[in-house]
Amino acid sequence: MSSPATTSTSNKTLLAWVEEMEALCKPAAVHWCDGSEEEYDALCEGLVQTGTFVRLNPEKRPHSFLARSHPSDVARVEARTFICAKTRDDAGPTNNWEDPAKMRATLHGLFDGCMRGRTMYVIPFSMGPIGSPIAHIGVQITDSAYVTVHMKIMTRMGQRVLDALGEHGAFIPCMHSVGAPLLPGQKDVAWPCEGEVNRKYIVHFPESREIWSYGSGYGGNALLGKKCLALRIASVMARDEGWLAEHMLILGLESPRGELTYVAGAFPSACGKTNLAMIVPPQGFEGWKASTVGDDIAWIKPAPDGTLRAINPEAGFFGVAPGTSEQTNPNAMGSMRENCIFTNVALTDDGDVWWEGMGPAPAHAIDWKGRDWTPASKEPAAHPNSRFTAPVTQAPSYSPAWEDPAGVPISAFLFGGRLSTTFPLVFESRDWAHGVFLAATMGSEATAAALGLAGVRRDPFAMLPFTGYNMADYWGHWLEMGKKRGLKLPRIFRVNWFRRDENGKLAWPGYGQNMRVLKWVVDRVHGRADAVDGPLGLMPRYGDLDWKGLAYDPSQYRKITDVRREAAQGEVDGVKQFFAKFGARLPAALTTQLAEFARRVEGMPETWRAE
Ligand code: GTP
Ligand code: SPV
Ligand code: MN
Repeated sequence: MSSPATTSTSNKTLLAWVEEMEALCKPAAVHWCDGSEEEYDALCEGLVQTGTFVRLNPEKRPHSFLARSHPSDVARVEARTFICAKTRDDAGPTNNWEDPAKMRATLHGLFDGCMRGRTMYVIPFSMGPIGSPIAHIGVQITDSAYVTVHMKIMTRMGQRVLDALGEHGAFIPCMHSVGAPLLPGQKDVAWPCEGEVNRKYIVHFPESREIWSYGSGYGGNALLGKKCLALRIASVMARDEGWLAEHMLILGLESPRGELTYVAGAFPSACGKTNLAMIVPPQGFEGWKASTVGDDIAWIKPAPDGTLRAINPEAGFFGVAPGTSEQTNPNAMGSMRENCIFTNVALTDDGDVWWEGMGPAPAHAIDWKGRDWTPASKEPAAHPNSRFTAPVTQAPSYSPAWEDPAGVPISAFLFGGRLSTTFPLVFESRDWAHGVFLAATMGSEATAAALGLAGVRRDPFAMLPFTGYNMADYWGHWLEMGKKRGLKLPRIFRVNWFRRDENGKLAWPGYGQNMRVLKWVVDRVHGRADAVDGPLGLMPRYGDLDWKGLAYDPSQYRKITDVRREAAQGEVDGVKQFFAKFGARLPAALTTQLAEFARRVEGMPETWRAE
């Protein structure tokens, strides 16, 4: 094995594993990542040389790059994501399962020689502050330099992680290959990957806590610290150890009087976490401060004082580009001014980036497939799941609490899907078990963040693609958390920014205006706001929300808050069908919740109104 040039470790388990993987994958070279700026710059320069990166105009976008992926490799592939627990039942009806021994044999075959002609990068990384008792260390092996530079932004990585790991420390092994070995003399392509979707594998072994990913270089398929470790594997660890690993943003809200309240929110992929995490209080909310702790993942643990404390295990944003603008999310725009990587957005003639929803379209650009593009073109210039990658610390709304290993105390959980009908702007659960029911039954309409989805699907806790064990057991774990003695349980809310009017137009302005809902949430937490009990839960009346600075009248409010009995009955039936999938593993408390919901719907008027 080539020796680490600028890194060193005495961790025998790690050294032995790397040696074994080198023997299996047969790379041309091995590079241990030290995590330095020099290393990052050299890797980026190498990516420019191979055509993977375009260096953006340093005057417009200093120290930033654009990558265009292969058109077959643009999002997570849920159909090729596996939880290889011992039994199919342990993975549950919402996960793909394969017998672990059989899967190991398949993977062994695929990885044998898969890095021929390429460099194998060894990336020690920490999810959470290095050395913190709540952080976990992973080591990713990859043959992708694009993935390696991403891990530098998205995690804390390099020699300092090896130092924290020490001689005997434990790490989660994360094996990754794009699955495109090079024959001697073969010229590389800009975005190597396995083009055949059925030969892509994103595999988790929850019992041995291992990750193996083959064939894709994109996002959650390839940046293994993110969905694979921090959600799928961590959710298993959290179940075993009594904490929560969630697909949630973490947001601090400070009132003009200096009262600081933290909320965490779970929204399915591409449904608004990054935006809410970076919210700018609108006109009428002068003196309020919102600060970003995290935009995608939260690890939440009970603290000795009984609070549930959340950390963001990541160090960067991998955010949806389309729809992001100075108007919708100035903090996101601020975070990507420099030191940023863009993937699958359009390149402007002056060497900058553009995407749909950013602002006026350029007269000419190069689209995400590398073709000439004008506003007359039929296809979008940026892929709908195109992304920016930027350090958390660059967001103007960055909260220094991000660095605090103790985490921030969470007072409220928000759960929100993308639902054009039926579901009101906001409602609160009556108690913890009802809140678990509301989160477990959440639905959402398809987005571009995952391949091949259509229509509305249930996305419990926004964790459908990210729970590393049986979903029914996961609900049971949440219910158990609610029974722990001495815990100060956060309140639970459902929100929906996406209801449409009779003409199909979004009936809620969203973005910064969501602050009005957040203020009501904060006031509920502190016992200052009213609600009325309805068929779905506790809802604010028009007058319970603060409308200062926005012209939005009671009739508009009704359109996004009225609950129709027929629609609610449809929801009862839908939940019944959905729960049936889980058989005897469904917690009894959720059966009780469903019966109570059905009873309330039966007794409700044709249209229920919060008044
Ligand atoms: P992942 O990174 O995939 O987990 O997604 P995310 O939940 O962080 O999604 P993000 O915040 O990036 O939002 C995705 C899309 O939703 C963007 O195009 C936004 O413009 C749009 N969006 C976010 N918030 C709102 C809102 O309040 N109203 C409306 N109408 N659209 C929103
Ligand atoms: C998501 O899909 O929820 C993401 C993007 O956050 S990815 O990292 O690709 O999973
Ligand atoms: Mn996400």
